[in-house]
Amino acid sequence: MRKPLVAGNWKMHGSKSMVTSLLKSLLAGSSPQDAVDLVVFPPFPYLYRAQKLLRDSSITWGAQTLNPAAQGAHTGEVSASMLLDLGCRYVLVGHSERRRLYGESDSDVAARFETAVQAGLEPLLCVGETLEQRERGETNSVITAQIDAVLARCGIDSLASATIAYEPVWAIGTGKTATPDQAQEVHALIRDKLLARDDMIGSQIRILYGGSVSSSNAADLFAREDIDGGLVGGASLKAEDFLAIRDAAA
Ligand code: 13P
Repeated sequence: MRKPLVAGNWKMHGSKSMVTSLLKSLLAGSSPQDAVDLVVFPPFPYLYRAQKLLRDSSITWGAQTLNPAAQGAHTGEVSASMLLDLGCRYVLVGHSERRRLYGESDSDVAARFETAVQAGLEPLLCVGETLEQRERGETNSVITAQIDAVLARCGIDSLASATIAYEPVWAIGTGKTATPDQAQEVHALIRDKLLARDDMIGSQIRILYGGSVSSSNAADLFAREDIDGGLVGGASLKAEDFLAIRDAAA
């Protein structure tokens, strides 16, 4: 049985006071007995606060990206060891905003994935097609290429500690969620692909859905066989909404 996971990608939102009150509300609504793993991805400057407030709780945290290099002259970048120093367990790699706005190619994403795994961070690999790609019937080939880039560089065993998030680009921040059928179809494609490589990894890996997940659509999505939780953007900034989505995954 895969334990559901609900993660909040805060993107570039927040302030010291907002982060503190959001984390405190999440703490008040969580317990180690929860049937769902809860993870937050604050911006870099607030990871310290997450570490301070969440360290004795069941809520874990991660970063939104990392640099593939171990250290050195990379102005503005953050390394895996720095994230570990701040208690991060997870790191997002390949979010579509990183791919689209900051030019990260499939091979850049694979390099970040490799660095994360080698450092002992658990990568949360994001994949997803644009609307144009979907309309041209390219969804399966785009997702396959995004996953193959990681498999080619890192091998199937590297996915033992990973999570995958299917986030159709056209559903992110648009209020247009994929239907449970559309999402399940892609999740099954991803799982079948991994099952063909390794039975254990394919059956154990958690595949999250992301893209306009809300407290009203979460239960229908999470009810599907291969949807193991969600990667939530906007709705993760309000504790009440985020906890309601967590409850929908239980
Ligand atoms: P929204 O939930 O705001 O659509 O964002 C999804 C997302 O990009 C999570 O990584």
